[in-house]
Amino acid sequence: KTIGVIFDLDGVIVDTAKYHFLAWKSLADNLDFEFTEAHNELLKGVSRVRSLEILLDIGNLELSEEKKQEYLISKNEHYLKYITQMGSEEILPGVLSLLDNLDGLNIEYVLGSASKNAPLILKQVGLFDRFKGIVDGNSVSSAKPDPEVFLIGAQKLCLPPENCIVFEDAIAGVEAANRANMTSIGIGDAETLNEADYNYNNLTELPQNFFNMFLAEKV
Ligand code: G6P
Ligand code: MG
Repeated sequence: KTIGVIFDLDGVIVDTAKYHFLAWKSLADNLDFEFTEAHNELLKGVSRVRSLEILLDIGNLELSEEKKQEYLISKNEHYLKYITQMGSEEILPGVLSLLDNLDGLNIEYVLGSASKNAPLILKQVGLFDRFKGIVDGNSVSSAKPDPEVFLIGAQKLCLPPENCIVFEDAIAGVEAANRANMTSIGIGDAETLNEADYNYNNLTELPQNFFNMFLAEKV
């Protein structure tokens, strides 16, 4: 049977979590509360608006809608300063060989990311043209863990959800893939991502024959 792949972006293709962290931390500094790397875990895979809400909860702050809009804009401006410096050297280990492997097997792949900056990031690292389609934070109305982003991805692949394999580094993303009835692959800490169907610390750990095995298993 035909299978397709949906990739999350941040934390799977590139490590942009560190830039999100620096930008959110600078906002927390301005608002005078502590924001740690552990706090940052809570923001992975979560939309920009929801991230601000979580951040303000951490700081025990309630702000007007107007202020929130202002901070969302300034956070993104700060984040973009890092993003526009990115190049192909920031592609995470194992990504390029995995894409080559998929191309060789004629397995199509799309992006399924919560980020509104996804197209820009893919262009920065030179991967934009490799994907059959891009589903990002601009094209969905419900954020992960809602399965919408991946269901639209399956449509772009012209495949039923159960034929799709999702690579994710965030708890919210693994949940979204599972709710979409897709095969979920957790990239990162297996304990954190224990809801995933398969777990690997990073993409270099994926067995060479993973997709062949997968096809054989699922046919
Ligand atoms: C990804 C990241 C999140 C980020 C979200 C929105 O899912 O893991 O940390 O908040 O995208 O990104 P954006 O670029 O639209 O602010
Ligand atoms: Mg991610």
